[in-house]
Amino acid sequence: MTNPLFDTVRHTPDAASLWDGSHKIPWNDPAFSARILREHLSQDHHLASRKSSVIEAQCAWIASRCLSGGPASILDLGCGPGLYSRLLAGDANYYIGLDFSPASIGYAQDTFGAPGKAEFRLADVAEADFGGPFELAMMLYGELNVFPPEVCQRILAKAHAALAPGGRLLIERQRFGAVRKSGQEPRSRTRADNGGLFSDRAYVCLTENHWFDAESVALQCFHVLAQGDAEPVTYRSTTRAWTGDEMEGLLRQAGFADVAHHDDWPVPDNGLALVSATK
Ligand SMILES: C[S@@+](CC[C@H](N)C(=O)[O-])C[C@H]1O[C@@H](n2cnc3c(N)ncnc32)[C@H](O)[C@@H]1O
Repeated sequence: MTNPLFDTVRHTPDAASLWDGSHKIPWNDPAFSARILREHLSQDHHLASRKSSVIEAQCAWIASRCLSGGPASILDLGCGPGLYSRLLAGDANYYIGLDFSPASIGYAQDTFGAPGKAEFRLADVAEADFGGPFELAMMLYGELNVFPPEVCQRILAKAHAALAPGGRLLIERQRFGAVRKSGQEPRSRTRADNGGLFSDRAYVCLTENHWFDAESVALQCFHVLAQGDAEPVTYRSTTRAWTGDEMEGLLRQAGFADVAHHDDWPVPDNGLALVSATK
């Protein structure tokens, strides 16, 4: 008898198709986004969003290093369920979060939305007009790395345009070595007897990792076979590894100056690093 999961054709994807549109987990699919929201809010792990203790430490860092000069408008790109707004929005600061996950934006609006203080918009950051002017813009938790290089450049250029003169941009990037390591991990298999991220039904997931050296890209393929399905569904997560110098180049190309790397940014592991830049 054949096993549809293990009979799935598993070949290294073609480098030319790395950014072909299906390169990303569908964070914006309504059902998927509802399942991801559970992971964002969980205090059992750091997936999707970090645990509250880390978010609190990062907000304290942002407040002391970037918001000390009085009232500020803050733009959070890929804000998820708005967990940073709880600490950054308020009487002094106006916060706007953009995300294309409907469940996350719905949760953020219901939980943290406050007219004139914290607002959340369902929007694709690759396409949306960011508005402005803002004193601070940020994209955290390595999200910039999962966009194709030309879209990274577009997002950075739009962030630059949305900032007030002297405004700051914070990018929490995935370190090059951490991305490469993720692409070189051996294949693994998990089962979710009560459902999980990929389905509400029980499923098994075969994860295959690939590293594309010439493109500096890690590709994860998740082959998911849910109970009752005859064939597995494959999801992909594609991550571009940027060195610190390359990230600095992207920022300068977008018009930023004063690029700085911050070793004191509080992160639970050293796979991520913070870089800031000024308009
Ligand atoms: C790793 S999560 C981080 C969420 C949040 N910054 C945090 O740390 O709690 C990345 C977020 O980016 C959002 N995202 C990914 N691609 C996006 C896009 N093209 N436009 C808007 N949001 C996007 C996802 O929906 C998700 O909420």
